[in-house]
Amino acid sequence: MAAKTNIQIFILIITIQLFYYPSSSLAANPTYNVQSFGAKSGGSSDCTKAFLSAWGAACAATSPATIYVPPGRYLLRNAYFGGKLCKNSAITIRIDGTLGRRSSIFGGTLDAQGTKLWACKNSGKSCPKGATSLAFYNSENIEINGLASLNSQKFHILVDGCKSVKMINMKISAPANSPNTDGIHIQQSSEVTVMNTHIGTGDDCISVGPGSSNLWIENLACGPGHGISIGSLGWDLEEAGVQNVTVKTVTFTGTENGVRVKTWARPSNGFVKNVLFQHLVVVNVENPIIIDQNYCPDHQNCPTQGSGVKISDVAYEDIHGTSATQVAVKFDCSKKNPCSGITLDGVNLSYRDKAATASCANAAGSAAGVVRPTSCL
Ligand SMILES: *[C@@H]1O[C@H](CO)[C@@H](O)[C@H](O)[C@H]1NC(C)=O
Ligand SMILES: *[C@@H]1O[C@H](CO)[C@@H](O)[C@H](O)[C@H]1NC(C)=O
Repeated sequence: MAAKTNIQIFILIITIQLFYYPSSSLAANPTYNVQSFGAKSGGSSDCTKAFLSAWGAACAATSPATIYVPPGRYLLRNAYFGGKLCKNSAITIRIDGTLGRRSSIFGGTLDAQGTKLWACKNSGKSCPKGATSLAFYNSENIEINGLASLNSQKFHILVDGCKSVKMINMKISAPANSPNTDGIHIQQSSEVTVMNTHIGTGDDCISVGPGSSNLWIENLACGPGHGISIGSLGWDLEEAGVQNVTVKTVTFTGTENGVRVKTWARPSNGFVKNVLFQHLVVVNVENPIIIDQNYCPDHQNCPTQGSGVKISDVAYEDIHGTSATQVAVKFDCSKKNPCSGITLDGVNLSYRDKAATASCANAAGSAAGVVRPTSCL
């Protein structure tokens, strides 16, 4: 809190208390712009009151609401959001275009209490989509440190169209059976770092969408959930690629996947290249290492097609532990665009104290050091 820091957004505690889920659609969401509640950008005048007023208005709204923070720098001191009086069950915080400046969120808990919405979704009924708990769009130089996000209605954190985003010391959690509660989804963004974080959700711990580059993910505990995924990619014919992604020192516990690359079996000009997966431990993980280029759930929209996404230069180094299924390493690449430059070095995965197996289709590359199960490249 030292006056000389360049922290523009300082949120001490954010607590969203939610009691019911309104049925109206998200399309008509009211948006509460902090500036219309008197917040002044510039970073020198205290905007706490304005932010609290915007929060109060969002809480009083009877439909899902968005608190919008326009481009600029905002100083917040000692703001406590929420409390028992907040009746709204779906508040999204949207922070936009903090161009060339550093915005930080320190500490706090976002509790979106998604239980009712998940129950609706799990029942197969038609339900509201729900809200992302914290979303950054077209922003630069964001730092989030020490934030806890609980029980989001869908993604916990979304980073879209951003550059230079650092997320550290976070805790993100939702139950294993909560639908679409991805921990962090990153797309169309570069220079995104996630470190020293625990993520356990009902979907991917981290998912990486099209147009992402220079990502650094280090020192994570992931589980429950679906693991760390690059994808799904290749839905669109014209799609930006993913490149230069490092995932290191991650423990996956009881997850559906460890590290996964997933592309739709559809034509696309997308690509994935220069990816390093290093120093990973898997504990009872269904698919510790997997590339799936034949993704086409329910055989809809892509029954007989091949993926156009070109996957190259993906390295797996020092990965060990236990697989929950026999096939611990699976490279199911595109017939049209085989994978190239896949490397395995120091991989030791077992299945119930027995040898696990590896399966390759349309995948080329090499293996070095101990590689168990034996490489099929
Ligand atoms: C890859 O990304 C990292 C940050 O994650 C960056 O430091 C490095 O310079 C990038 N490499 C290239 C070749 O762009
Ligand atoms: C592979 O892992 C198993 C079980 O953890 C261990 O017993 C074995 O020594 C390891 N093999 C090598 C070559 O490191």
